[in-house]
Amino acid sequence: MTRRIKRLKDFEISLVLMNDEFIRPPRDSQRNWILNRSIAEFTDDLMHMDAVSRRFVRGSDSIPLQDRAQAILEDYEIMEDWQMPIMKAMASAVTESHGDILEIGFGRGISANFLQESGIKSHTIIECNDSIIDRYHDWKKNYPAEDIKIIRGKWQDVIHDLGDYDGIFFHTYPLDTDDYLEQIADSVTFAEHFFAAAADHLRNGGCFTYQSNEIDSLSRGHQRLLFKHFTKFSLSLMHPLNIPDNIKDAWWADSTVIVKAVR
Ligand SMILES: C[S@@+](CC[C@H](N)C(=O)[O-])C[C@H]1O[C@@H](n2cnc3c(N)ncnc32)[C@H](O)[C@@H]1O
Repeated sequence: MTRRIKRLKDFEISLVLMNDEFIRPPRDSQRNWILNRSIAEFTDDLMHMDAVSRRFVRGSDSIPLQDRAQAILEDYEIMEDWQMPIMKAMASAVTESHGDILEIGFGRGISANFLQESGIKSHTIIECNDSIIDRYHDWKKNYPAEDIKIIRGKWQDVIHDLGDYDGIFFHTYPLDTDDYLEQIADSVTFAEHFFAAAADHLRNGGCFTYQSNEIDSLSRGHQRLLFKHFTKFSLSLMHPLNIPDNIKDAWWADSTVIVKAVR
């Protein structure tokens, strides 16, 4: 059995390894280095979480998640206004090639406007909600000459029939409680369930962007997931976000990280 204890003013970390073969590189000094580094990282993470937790807003009581696939939603239920700068930054990250762009989730059309303003060759949108598709048809009138099309359905059901793109913009939300549990509660980032599909539909050198659900940096677990599907990635820290105190969304911090991953 191996024990490590680290005591600080505000907390104590105790690590007990029950199995002497767990983490067993050739030399004991290497094992010590790994264990010490792991505890140091955890300590550092807790200290940062202490600091960022003081920048949280209270937020509203969470609304039970109903089936949203075909719900008729108010603007703020689709996406709150404070997210607009994030949409702009993601659109700018994904359109550097000015090529063929796939957008998952039309919503209020805010990101679609930013994508169009960047000057792109073509714009394909996947959207499952019929009332949002009605919004799309009104929005499309603003861009009569542009190569824009919408594919109706959940991306999980329709993406296989599509080709490859230079950029993929991903911004959906869980559609029901099962989605919520699988895609948010059990995952380091909501976008994880889309990583494989994104990599499958990107041209070499093409890029994929999403909001990370992380506050001030990217966790190691998150980075390892990215490296399973992409060759490199870059991060942008959005801070400060103008978060209203009565925010309805499941986000309370005044910063977030957006990711641009390259295939
Ligand atoms: C947060 S909104 C997108 C907001 C948009 N980026 C904007 O700037 O207005 C999410 C959208 O994704 C759609 N959506 C959610 N899950 C989906 C899925 N599995 N397949 C296709 N669309 C989905 C929703 O209907 C909604 O229109």
